[in-house]
Amino acid sequence: MHAKFTALTPDLYEYLLAHNPPQDDALHALAEETAALGPISMMQIAVEQGALLTFLAGLLEVKFAVEIGTFTGYSAISIARGLAPGGRLLCCDISEEWTGIARKYWQRAGVADKIDLRIGPAIETLKTLPASPTIDLAFIDADKTSYRDYYEALLPKLSPRGVIVFDNVLWGGSVVDREKQDESTQAIRALNDFVAKDDRVHEVMLPVADGITLVRRR
Ligand SMILES: C[S@@+](CC[C@H](N)C(=O)[O-])C[C@H]1O[C@@H](n2cnc3c(N)ncnc32)[C@H](O)[C@@H]1O
Repeated sequence: MHAKFTALTPDLYEYLLAHNPPQDDALHALAEETAALGPISMMQIAVEQGALLTFLAGLLEVKFAVEIGTFTGYSAISIARGLAPGGRLLCCDISEEWTGIARKYWQRAGVADKIDLRIGPAIETLKTLPASPTIDLAFIDADKTSYRDYYEALLPKLSPRGVIVFDNVLWGGSVVDREKQDESTQAIRALNDFVAKDDRVHEVMLPVADGITLVRRR
């Protein structure tokens, strides 16, 4: 098959960023503080993913969103900024330390009053969700071995227009590297195979950042 993608070079990526909504002061400062944490800062989503999440939240007129994996709060700000008036975002994470940074920047970004943060294993938090409100947007970006469990917990609670976004579905290319047999890689491969054949949903996998899959109910 003839490949129709354009491989990103550093110059092309810079060009792409220059044609996306610019990071405002709050997101820029958050990215800087997160970078200062060292290699762990790799966990933060890419700038264009943030723009995409804001776009999706607006497109879907999201009243209730759920985020699994908050870290220092970049994706949460991005989602919160796209919410419909009165919309709310539930953030799930296990780290008080990283989400402490998130809370600071949610204030600075002016979205703190739209976000509820629950500290604890996300799967337990999801179990406590009532049937209503249904979820218009879910962003899954936490422990890869639990992606399938998050999927099964979220899917029945999706609103008719609701979308689940999985991050890291290409996992740095490991999904096609036979040498890579660690638990996270195996879990992402299994999830990707499962979702591609799941007749409960429509799905699209896209080469955004480390790969994303978008899913909605049939
Ligand atoms: C890749 S980071 C999330 C990055 C974030 N979306 C951002 O934009 O910066 C993954 C996060 O998942 C959290 N996490 C790991 N296991 C978890 C679990 N079982 N339940 C909830 N959160 C978890 C980690 O503490 C970490 O903050």
